[in-house]
Amino acid sequence: MSHLKSAIIGCGGVARVHAHAINDNTDAHLMATVDIIGERAEKYARKYGKEGCKAYTNYKEMLKDPSIDVVHVCAPHYLHAPMVIDALEAGKNVITEKPLAISVEQAEAMIAAGKKSDKNFGVILQNRYNLASQEAKKVIDAGKLGKILGARAFVTWYRTKEYYLESNWKGTWDKEGGGVLIDQAIHTIDLMQWLVGEVEWVQGTCHNRFHPYIEVEDVAEAMFQFKNGARGVLFATNYYTYDSNIILEIHGENGKIFIEKDMARIEIGDEAYTVKEDQQVKEGKSYWGSSHSTQIAEFYKDVASGKRHWISGEEAKKVLDIVLGIYRSEGKRVELPLKS
Ligand SMILES: NC(=O)c1ccc[n+]([C@@H]2O[C@H](COP(=O)([O-])OP(=O)(O)OC[C@H]3O[C@@H](n4cnc5c(N)ncnc54)[C@H](O)[C@@H]3O)[C@@H](O)[C@H]2O)c1
Repeated sequence: MSHLKSAIIGCGGVARVHAHAINDNTDAHLMATVDIIGERAEKYARKYGKEGCKAYTNYKEMLKDPSIDVVHVCAPHYLHAPMVIDALEAGKNVITEKPLAISVEQAEAMIAAGKKSDKNFGVILQNRYNLASQEAKKVIDAGKLGKILGARAFVTWYRTKEYYLESNWKGTWDKEGGGVLIDQAIHTIDLMQWLVGEVEWVQGTCHNRFHPYIEVEDVAEAMFQFKNGARGVLFATNYYTYDSNIILEIHGENGKIFIEKDMARIEIGDEAYTVKEDQQVKEGKSYWGSSHSTQIAEFYKDVASGKRHWISGEEAKKVLDIVLGIYRSEGKRVELPLKS
């Protein structure tokens, strides 16, 4: 049996979740690791790679290897676009971490490269695979909630001074592309738009109140007007005192769905039930959840079958537009989708 050959670009924090997913949840072999810090690439190759796994400091060198089939982009946000486009043009299947990009121009270029390529291009938005999210989607798509009236999301997390000062890209506009919205709250905003529907306009404000050594926002609030008439409420900060449970509620004319972290409580008429993830988070931080490996396994199945992965560039641009729309808003309405 022939095994797909994988490469990881960016051997920092999240890459180990990808390495575990490749090794534990697919038949693929990790054959290349890349990091501008050579020791990191070498450490990953030793720890997670198959025999013969090569460590690189330049991703373009790795892309010249015709045997690599799938490239995982786990690099800082501003590098997603050039790395994804170069990898697609080199004939690789590509899965990149969120966010898709940090600008509309980058996102459009990535989508165009994906369309031009006959390979697969996916974006990690793993929380769509959580049991609670899947159950919510099923209930809503079956029409059980009736017309959706509103949705609210609260993300109150904590990022320390060290989190920012130890990173050379987090907390900057040109490399991270924003703060709490584009990095932490993006998952919950994505779930909201995936469950409720297309957003017509956003209106919001952003501030930096607690982390004076960074350029970007550490708190944001926004209203979303959905095309189906529903109204969304968002509050997100990373200056709370710990990573408290995320709350997302969808309110419909027949009841509501209340998601708290990995649990969903569904109340429709007189009936109520709860679903909860029973998987332990094996690798990575608990607030990343355990669904990376599920999405990555599905991506590899799509690569094998030739089916386009459903969380594509176009799909991931929806939440990016909301985030970038809030940045542009400064209190005024911004119509979506954004165009360059
Ligand atoms: N889906 C999730 O839940 C989740 C969780 C954490 C991080 N992430 C995402 O993963 C990505 C990486 O985040 P992280 O926290 O692992 O960052 P990190 O800073 O820990 O790791 C990034 C790595 O990329 C390397 N790098 C930088 N420039 C490079 C280049 N030109 N070529 C090769 N390597 C380069 C750095 O040296 C570093 O080791 C981001 O997009 C982040 O938003 C997603």
